[in-house]
Amino acid sequence: MYGESVELLEAAIAEINAIPDIEFILVAGDLTKDSERYNHDRARELLSRFRKPVFCIPGNHDQPRCPELRPAECLDPHAPSVPASEFPRLYRDFGFTDPSVSAFSCDPSPDVHLVGLCSAKVNDDRGYLDPAILVWLDADLARQRDSRRHTIVMLHHSIIDHVPAESVDPTFSWFHVDNAFDLKAVLHRHNVQLTLTGHLHMQDVTEEDGLYNIVTSSLAGYPHAYRVMTLRDDAIAIESHRIASIPSLPDLQSYSRRFVSDTFVGILTDAFRKPPFSYPQDHAHDVATRLRDWWPSLVSGDAQFTYTAEELGDPVLVAYFNSFSDRPPADNDLVINLRRS
Ligand SMILES: [Fe+2]
Repeated sequence: MYGESVELLEAAIAEINAIPDIEFILVAGDLTKDSERYNHDRARELLSRFRKPVFCIPGNHDQPRCPELRPAECLDPHAPSVPASEFPRLYRDFGFTDPSVSAFSCDPSPDVHLVGLCSAKVNDDRGYLDPAILVWLDADLARQRDSRRHTIVMLHHSIIDHVPAESVDPTFSWFHVDNAFDLKAVLHRHNVQLTLTGHLHMQDVTEEDGLYNIVTSSLAGYPHAYRVMTLRDDAIAIESHRIASIPSLPDLQSYSRRFVSDTFVGILTDAFRKPPFSYPQDHAHDVATRLRDWWPSLVSGDAQFTYTAEELGDPVLVAYFNSFSDRPPADNDLVINLRRS
């Protein structure tokens, strides 16, 4: 919802500024549409309205992207894209301290060590960690000697699968860090347990060998969520909230869910018309319509799918769509117990 993104961020700022005891705000990338300088200027102005410190990292949209990744109707041909290398300088008030390093770390509260990493692969929507940044991260984490602090690492792309075969299935692998294995080796070496990401536009929490990857949906897309995290007594409590309305869309949630469902039905109908399905138009649209709630339910988190062969007509479809049912841990509201390093 590019057109409503400013209203959505303003609504989130108002809600979050009204929450007592917030210490800092984390924004996991995609601050602009296509890294237009005027959008970066507006993003920084908006982020400065939070009453507490804000830390942000770039996403795939905050760098030049090749034209085939940019919908023609959303292009601004007169706006050259700001390169990712400029992001640390532009966002020096939002975490970055060295304009030549696409990562930062700081201690925003007595019990948190925060690391922000740029995971946007140059001119691509995929994720990738520059080997030099992994060396920087290893050294940064090695310097942490204060056992009172828990480390939170924020980056844009996933590092643990949130959907089946995310890291290898071409439908989803562009949401993932290509060299996630290398990053996770560094995180495990230093006992890091918490990572925060965006990009996948869904509410999901996964755990792998004691490492959690918490992905939060985009403010600019259904379900328009943000999370409030409270760290206390070696446990982090996570609550999820949704923007309920904005001035131009008082019924934001129902409008947005309907919009996403309708879009998804169109995409699925087109897919079912092609091999290997090759369904006639009416049948393709009928099956797609039966699945209209699948995507919005999936991105809402905590979804269980129980489609049947009677509904979808093909057991292979049933097995595929049901396989996205959520597995523990919970996605929206949960408590994660943390180890002491
Ligand atoms: Fe993204």
